[in-house]
Amino acid sequence: MTIYTDATAKRVCNFAAGPAVLPQPVLEKARDEMLNYAGSGMSVLEMSHRSAAFEDIINRAEADLRTLYGIPANYKVLFLQGGANLQFGMIPMNLRAAGTPIDAVLTGNWSKGTPIDAVLTGNWSKAAIKEAKKLGPVNIAATTEATNFNRIPAQNELQLDPNAAYLYFTSNETIGGVEWQTEPVPPAGVPLVCDASSDFVSRPLDISKYGLLYAGAQKNAGPAGVAVVILREDLLARVPEGLVSILDYKVMAENKSLYNTPPCFSIYIVGLVAKWLLDLGGLTEIAKRNQAKADLIYAVIDGAPDFFKGHAEKASRSRMNLTFRLPNEDLEKKFAKEAAAEGLLELKGHRSVGGLRASLYNAQPLSAVEALAGFMKEFKKKNG
Ligand SMILES: Cc1ncc(COP(=O)(O)O)c(C=O)c1O
Repeated sequence: MTIYTDATAKRVCNFAAGPAVLPQPVLEKARDEMLNYAGSGMSVLEMSHRSAAFEDIINRAEADLRTLYGIPANYKVLFLQGGANLQFGMIPMNLRAAGTPIDAVLTGNWSKGTPIDAVLTGNWSKAAIKEAKKLGPVNIAATTEATNFNRIPAQNELQLDPNAAYLYFTSNETIGGVEWQTEPVPPAGVPLVCDASSDFVSRPLDISKYGLLYAGAQKNAGPAGVAVVILREDLLARVPEGLVSILDYKVMAENKSLYNTPPCFSIYIVGLVAKWLLDLGGLTEIAKRNQAKADLIYAVIDGAPDFFKGHAEKASRSRMNLTFRLPNEDLEKKFAKEAAAEGLLELKGHRSVGGLRASLYNAQPLSAVEALAGFMKEFKKKNG
C-alpha cells in the first residue's frame, strides 16, 4: 500500500464525468469531522439516522438547497437511493397516473396509462425513455439522434401533446455535451420533468416552472449514493395506491426521506457542498465561474478549428461536459496519455461520441481548467 505523507500534494486535475471532483474545503471539513462529528463523539458514518445530530444534518442540507434554488414552499425535497436510474422508473410509475386506471397500475398493464412526452437529446434521455416505455406509452416530442445528439432542439421543433402526463427532458447530456440554455415550455397544465443530474446547482433556475427536477448527486452536488428529487406537492395526488413503499414518492415525502435508512454520509456531503455554494455567493456566482471556465476551453477549440472539433453545435454547448475531437484517433489517444502524465486525468470521451471530454463541474478549480487550456495549446503546437 502506498503511504501518502501529504495527501494534498498528490491531488490531480480530475476531469471525470462522475463521480467527479468535489470542493477541497468540503473534503477537508469531512476529514476534520470524520472521527468526531460536532462533538457527538462519533463519525457521521456511525450515526443513527434517527439521531438528533443526523436530523440536523438532513434538515440543513434541505434548507440550504432550498435557499440556493429559492425552492417554493409547495415543493418537497427528497433524498433517495437508486441513483438517477431509479428515477427513470419511479417518475412514470408515480406521475403518469393522471387518468391511469388503478387496476392498470396494480396489474402491471401500464399500456393503458396516460402518454408522456419526452425530448430525446442523448444517451441519458434515451435511457430514461427506454425505462418509461416499459411503464406505458411515450411520445418523442423531438429527437436529435440523426446528427448524433449534437444539439438541443428549438421550442418550435417540439411536437407537444396538451394532454401528456408530463414533458420530460434532460437539461444536460453528460455524454454528448449538449445543454438546454433555457428549459422547454410545456403546454399549459402539463408538468415539466427534468433530469438535471449533470448540471444540478450549476446555475439559477426558476423551480416554479418545474413539476419535478431530480439529480444523481455524484456529479455536481456530492458523492454517489443519493439522488435529490424536488417535487411539486400537488403531483403527489397522482401517486397510485399500492406501489411498493420505497418506490412511492408519497411515502418518502411523508417520512421526510427517512422511511428506511437513507444514505446518511452522502446526504451529509451534499449538505456540505450546498453550504460551500452558499458561502461562495450562491448559484449566480457559481454560474458566472462555470461560464468563465467553459469559455476558456471553448476559446482554445474555436481558436484552432482545423485541429479541435467541438462535438456540440455552439448554441447547444454544455458548460459542464465539453466534448471535442482531434484530427484522428491516434492523436486523441496520445492527447489523453500525455495529459495524464501531466496530472490532467479522465479526459477520454465516452465510446459513443469518441474523442475527448473535459468535465468542468462546480468544484473544478479554475487553475485546473487553465492547466488544461495550456496543455491543449501546447499539444496543438507540437502535433498540429
Ligand atoms: C444526465 C444523467 N442522467 C442519469 C445518469 C445516471 O445516473 P445514475 O448512475 O445515478 O443512475 C447520469 C450519469 O451517470 C447522467 O449523467
